Parts: sequence; C-alpha cells; structure tokens
Amino acid sequence: MPKIKELECSRCNATVSAETPQTLCPKCAGSLYVRYDLRTAKGTAKREEIARDTGWAGMWRYRSVLPAVEPVTLGEGWTPMLRSKRYPNVAVKEEGANPTGSFKARGLALAVTMAKHYGLKKLAVPSAGNAAGALAAYAAAAGIEANIFMPQDVPFANYVEAKMYGANVTLVDGLISDCGRIVAERKEKEGWFDVSTLKEPFRIEGKKTMGFELVEQLGWDYPEAVFYPTGGGVGLIGMWKAFAEMEELGWVTPRRRPKMIAVQSSGCAPMVRAFEEHARASKMWENAATFAAGLRVPKPYGDYIMLEILQRSGGVALALPDEVILTSLQDWARNEGIFLSPEGAAATAAYDHLLNKGFLKPTDRVVLFNTGAGLKYTDVTAEAAGIRRVN
Ligand SMILES: Cc1ncc(COP(=O)(O)O)c(C=O)c1O
Ligand SMILES: [Zn+2]
Repeated sequence: MPKIKELECSRCNATVSAETPQTLCPKCAGSLYVRYDLRTAKGTAKREEIARDTGWAGMWRYRSVLPAVEPVTLGEGWTPMLRSKRYPNVAVKEEGANPTGSFKARGLALAVTMAKHYGLKKLAVPSAGNAAGALAAYAAAAGIEANIFMPQDVPFANYVEAKMYGANVTLVDGLISDCGRIVAERKEKEGWFDVSTLKEPFRIEGKKTMGFELVEQLGWDYPEAVFYPTGGGVGLIGMWKAFAEMEELGWVTPRRRPKMIAVQSSGCAPMVRAFEEHARASKMWENAATFAAGLRVPKPYGDYIMLEILQRSGGVALALPDEVILTSLQDWARNEGIFLSPEGAAATAAYDHLLNKGFLKPTDRVVLFNTGAGLKYTDVTAEAAGIRRVN
C-alpha cells in the first residue's frame, strides 16, 4: 500500500498535507483528490499481483493504490459483473451485492477507515438514503459516532438500517441539500467531522475501485461506455481518477477512455440541464422529485468536475421520466432475473434510449451500474408499480 503524497485541489491544484484530516481546498473550496507517488509505485505495483494475496478481499485487492492504513471493512467491493442474457455486449455491475446493499459501502468504508486512522470520534452526513446506511454500518464497525440527516421520505430500509446500526438519525422535511445545510450549521458546535459527498477526499478514493474492477473484469480493457446513475457524482469522478491511475501504472493501454454517461431522472436533472447548456456548473433544481431516491440531488457539489469528465470522455448526460425507469426495472426483473434499484433502472433505460438514438451500437461493449439492490426499495417501487398485498 502506498503512502499518500498529498491532497490536490480538483479546481486550483493547490496541495495540502494528508497528515491531518482535511475537508475542502483551503484556497477555493474545491474537492480534494488523494495523490500518491505513482511513479515509484510503477515498478512495484503490478496488476498480476493484485489477486495473489488472498488476505485482501473485495476492493482492498487494489491496496497498492489505496492509503496505507488498516482498513475498516465489511467485505465491500469485487462485485459481480453480470452478462445480460439479451444484449451480448452489455454487462451489469451489480453493486447491490455490497454490504448495506449499495455502492456507497465503498466510499464510506474508506472514509471511516481514514476517520479511524485520524482518531476522529464523531462523523456527520447528509444523505439521500444509502450513504446513511453505509456510514452507520462502518461507523458501528469502527466504534465511531454517526450523525445522519436524511429526507423524511427516504426508502424505509435506509431509515431502519441506520437506526439498527445505532446511528443518531434525524429525518428532515426537505431534500439532501437541506440536510447538508443542517450539518454545515451544526458541525462546529457539535464537534462533527463532515463526510458529505465530495467535501472530504476519501469517498472518491473508495469509489474509484469501481473503475479498477470494471477494467480488470473486462480483461484489463476499457468498455466503450459506462452508464452511471448520477446524484452527487462521486462514482463517476472516482472512476475517471481510476482510469488515469491505471494508465500511469501501465495497467491498461491508454487508448480512448470509456464515454461516461451520467444518468438522471427527469424529476431531478441538474447535470443534464448544465450539460445541454454547455455550462461550467449546475443550477439548483427546484422541486426535485423522483422514486430513484439516490438521484434526488438538486445541486451536486462536484458538478464542475463531472461536466469536464463528460465532455472529455465524449459522453453525455441524459434524464428519463420515472415511468420509463419503472418500465425498465420491470423488464430487467422479468427478462433477466435482476431486481434493479430505481437508480440502476435509470441506467438500463438510458442504454435502450441511446441505442435507439444511434449514440451507441449494439456491438459496443458497455457497463451499466446497478448502484443498489432492488430489495432496498420495496416500499417506493411497490408504490410506483401499484403493488399492494392482497389475500
Ligand atoms: C443507489 C444509488 N445510486 C446512485 C446514487 C448517486 O450516487 P452519486 O452521489 O455517487 O452520484 C445514489 C446516491 O445516494 C444511490 O443511493
Ligand atoms: Zn482549490
């Protein structure tokens, strides 16, 4: 495992030391990237070695590009890459197989690992739902206090899991942006360290492992496109970082990187609007509403990073209505045996859409992210599909 060299601002490239806990760039409040000395690692961190040491399960197989500290782990990562039965070039990265049933486990495993390393005692997070469950679980595993703020209408599973893990949970009459404001207002007085999306450097670092995994699972090659259900965008940003690191380490041939496809719901599509307007940042989406709870992020903090990645990758941001997302969810359950989260179904719906539009060809190899388990959403999905218990 490498030592962290420094943290680098994603906006102004200022650097700060990782010796003490950091949040945002002290100069411009941009999100910070973790930087290692990869030139030194190049000779020693070989991709053939990755799976050799079986003591390192899940995403920790990429320990040679993760901070050199003792992990707090519940077995996150190395999730299945499922081949579609109908589309020979489509694979679904099944992130519902993670602890707490979503990809949020990766980022929060690393954020809590570092919090423990730094000796932090109290963490706080605003969450659309799954990050809350993941923080609660890893904080419990690490013996750290978790303070969670989430919308009062989150999928019920997110509330129950956070309570069961012993977190302090506050349900807020509002959206994740309102929850974020409460954390920001109270954190200093309460002594909380804020692990909000993109406001600390290590959630990106955990989520980048999705990029390493998908490339390794495709035989150390890039797919043509990666479909990512986008709220705050940590995964998209993390995977792009992973591609750069893999190229620097010589783990993948630096040919054209995948087109990154940011998928949202028409009920909350700030990234799509910004992308279509060629803007450099997004504007707050008013009255955000969608049953894809994780996509209800009206103003992503890392919008400027995502817009650059979408553009550089030749990708696109697109949104589909909830009815179309639900139809795709039902289609994949019935015809593939995969119970997607609504967010994952946004990705499958987007694939159909871009195929029909000719943006992608059926021969293009693509990876669709099912970011969470469908079973975490039984209340919201049943309501959307009109399913009621009958005797
Ligand atoms: C299942 C699911 N998919 C996607 C997202 C969006 O993730 P990100 O904030 O990394 O864009 C979330 C966020 O809560 C989620 O829970
Ligand atoms: Zn900066």
